[in-house]
Amino acid sequence: MVGRKIAAAGEHIVYKYGEDKIIKFPHGPIYYANPEEAYDKIDNEFRLANRYFKKFLVPTRLLTYEENGRKKYCVIQDFIESRPLVPEDMQNEDLKLQFKEIMEANNRMYLNSRYTLEFFGLKGLIFHNFFPRMENIVVTGDKELKIADFGMISHLNLVSSSPILRWFIQWAVRRQGKLLRKQYLNN
Ligand SMILES: Nc1ncnc2c1ncn2[C@@H]1O[C@H](COP(=O)(O)OP(=O)(O)O)[C@@H](O)[C@H]1O
Ligand SMILES: [Mg+2]
Repeated sequence: MVGRKIAAAGEHIVYKYGEDKIIKFPHGPIYYANPEEAYDKIDNEFRLANRYFKKFLVPTRLLTYEENGRKKYCVIQDFIESRPLVPEDMQNEDLKLQFKEIMEANNRMYLNSRYTLEFFGLKGLIFHNFFPRMENIVVTGDKELKIADFGMISHLNLVSSSPILRWFIQWAVRRQGKLLRKQYLNN
């Protein structure tokens, strides 16, 4: 059932799954630095995503299983034809309104729980000059915004993380805020 590889991004490797689905498995340095925390992290993020962004989520199932006594997970989603959101999309009133709605929900979530969506993805954040787009918020052919990746960043992860990861999270939150203001929110 697992088909061809679609992408290997910062935190998940993504395969076609059956006719019209994809399946994501965690991978990469952040996962291997802390594999036992990855399950709790995504479980929490999935709950938050359903509470704040339900209408923008791609239909998603979070599956868990055990391997060698360890809790593991994978994510199954509907396959969506889409492209990343780019700053020029803010000139389209429809997309701008939808993005505003996502930002408002994100601000509420941040105020209530100190979590924020990870809009750009690792690549889009670190190498923004080369990839000036949102890897995680995508535009469908019907001009609908979808959150393909509900991964989040939080200062709350600071408590248990290594110093390098702590520094990185702080940097990522600041950098994301700066890019959002400069390119998407016009202030
Ligand atoms: N539901 C989906 N349908 C089609 N392509 C997808 C879907 N979800 C993710 N992708 C593709 O796979 C890439 C990586 O997935 P993502 O969930 O963002 O992984 P990561 O957590 O590593 O950032 C996305 O940028 C997108 O190109
Ligand atoms: Mg992503």
